[in-house]
Parts: sequence; structure tokens; C-alpha cells
Amino acid sequence: MKFTDVQKIKILAFDTSCDETSVAVLQGRRVLSSVISSQVELHKKWGGVVPKVARRAHEENIESTYKEALTRAKTSIEEIDAIAVTYGPGLAIDLEIGIIFAKELALKYNKKLLPVNHMEGHLLSSLLLNSKGRGKFEKPIESAFPILGVLASGKHTELIYAKSPGKYIKLGKTLDDAAGECFDKVGRMLNFGYPGGPVITEFAKKSTGKYKFDLPIPMEKSGDLNFSYSGLKTACLYKVNKLREEGLKDSDWVYDFCREFVDVVIKSISIKVEKALPENPDIKTILTGGGVYNNEKIIRDLQKVAKNNNKGFLFPEKRFRGDNAAMIALAGLRMYKDSEYISDKTEIQKLDRVPRLELGN
Ligand code: KG4
Ligand code: ZN
Repeated sequence: MKFTDVQKIKILAFDTSCDETSVAVLQGRRVLSSVISSQVELHKKWGGVVPKVARRAHEENIESTYKEALTRAKTSIEEIDAIAVTYGPGLAIDLEIGIIFAKELALKYNKKLLPVNHMEGHLLSSLLLNSKGRGKFEKPIESAFPILGVLASGKHTELIYAKSPGKYIKLGKTLDDAAGECFDKVGRMLNFGYPGGPVITEFAKKSTGKYKFDLPIPMEKSGDLNFSYSGLKTACLYKVNKLREEGLKDSDWVYDFCREFVDVVIKSISIKVEKALPENPDIKTILTGGGVYNNEKIIRDLQKVAKNNNKGFLFPEKRFRGDNAAMIALAGLRMYKDSEYISDKTEIQKLDRVPRLELGN
């Protein structure tokens, strides 16, 4: 089946993999509603996501978020064709809340259940259309393939090759920290609070270029398509301590530091993309996804790489860059058209979380 064969299908989707309780309704590729109940304020005082605190918030919010998603989509549970839910990767006790809720609905209302890999959601997020059917890529999804997926989120930095939707092969991944994680950890060193990524991005824009820090480009010479950010993190810690020991005020150098940090992270990703493209010459389009793309510079730089290599380039709309359930619904729709759903009640009951689920290994 093709995506055009399922354009009337309505999917209700849940994502509770981290610190957002999100529920969405999709009809075909059109987002009828996408409701995100964010917990950022809750976790700020701890300097990071506390799984137990997130779980309690998911429990408190999921019912109302679900109801709001149906209301905003002007639909009812009876009209839903299938229910999608993230079953991994993510925080174990948080994934559970979405899974329990989705399972109960599927059993009560006799719906098919679609267990979605969160990273397939990020990968397809740029292919979502608004409720009127408008978006960056309105042609049939299949015509974008073969693709190179370049994923950058809080826990993942990955290159994925796919000849067609659903057929994922991992070309490279991080050996330790993810790019987003590195943003957050360096943000903490700079006393930016949680999450540090957005603050680094904003500060980088104010750089005057007065100070240079010689930060290393991670995995520049590794010869493969993998990533690693713990070395950069350590290098940053060393530099920051040294600058402070020298008695320089943070406000003197911090904007330049953020700029250079952003530049080396982007470079670490763009050199791998430049290496992956000639190795897989049938790639037509680069698909990007994940919270780190809230930094617009990485979008612009990768867009240039795509252009220089005569490849298409797609990036998600702002509201679909961080975690959201609309992207989970689209991955669910892909699975629905490929008959990858569970309809047997005993099988539905058995669905469990897989916190370390991989995409395309
Ligand atoms: O995709 P995402 O929302 O959640 C995961 O699945 O992990 O990604 C979250 C990550 C965090 O590390 C956060 O710091 C980073 O995305 N992030 C940013 C920005 N906004 C969020 N990084 C750089 N610049 C931003 N503006
Ligand atoms: Zn995510």
C-alpha cells in the first residue's frame, strides 16, 4: 500500500517518552490536532528531567490532553481507525503511561494498536501537513525516497538510510552523548539552567567573534559515520574553568564561546552527511528531525550541503521539531499501511515498553 491509499485513515497518537505529554490526531498526513502538555517548568528546578516527576505529570495530564486532542480535531474516539503509541526509546517509567492509556483505549473501543519507534517519528516529522493539507513536501511521500535521515535530539544523533518508508538502515550513531545532550551539559557549565540548548543557541547569535577557543570538531577524522560528544564536553569544561581561573567574567566571552560551540557541533554533523551522500548515491532527499533543529543555523548549513550535492532537503515545522505526538501518528500511519498493527486483544495486552529501542540496526 501507498500513503495515498490511507489518506482518509484517522490515527490517534500518544507520546510520553520524556517530559512532554503529547496527543495528536492525524487524518492521512494532515494534522487535525497536536496537543503538547509541557513539563519544562516542572523539571527546571532539578536541572534536568526527573523520570518519577515526569511520570506523575503524565498521569495527571494524559486524560485531559487526550480529550483536548479529540475536541480540537473535531472528532470522536469512535471515528478513529487506529491508535499509535511510542513504545521506545525513552524513559521506561514514562513510556509506560502512554502505553497503558493507549492499550486501554484500544481494548475498550476495539481499535488497532500501532507500537511506534519514537525515532521513526522524528525521521518522518518533516513530511507532516497542516490541517488544510499544506506543507513543505506535498508530493507523495514515496517520491522523497531513498532518503538520508539526519536525527539530532536529546538522546540521539544518527544517520539513517532508507530506500523506502519503513526500511531503515542505521549508517552511524553516537558512541556516547548525543548532540542535544552535549548542548544541555555545556549549558549547565555555563549556568544556563535546563534545558541549556535553547539558551546556547540564543547566546551564539550575539557573538562578536572577539574570542577564539580552539574547540575540537568531534569525530572529524574518525573515518566512519559515527558521532561522539563526550570529548567536546570535556574540552568545554577545561576551557570554561581556565577562562574563569584567569579572572575573565563569563559575560566577556560567553557569547563567542556559544557561537564556536554551535559551529563545531554543526560541523561534526555536516562532515558526516557529506561523507554519507557519495557512499549512498541513490539518496534523493535529506530528512532532518529532532529538538536540536530548533537551532536554525544547523538547518541552513545542512541545506547548503544538500544543495551542493543536488539533494532535496526537508526540515520539520517548528512545532514538530521537539517531541510531539503528530510525528508518532505519521509513523503509525506508515505502519498501518504496511499492516504492522496489533489487533488481537491478548497481543495488545502484551505490548511492553522498550526503553533502548533502536531504529534500523
Ligand atoms: O527531540 P527532543 O525534543 O527530545 C528528545 O527526543 O530527546 O530534543 C531535545 C533536545 C534537548 O537536548 C534540547 O537542549 C535540544 O533538543 N534543543 C536545542 C534547542 N531547542 C531544543 N538545541 C539547540 N538549540 C535549540 N534552540
Ligand atoms: Zn524526541
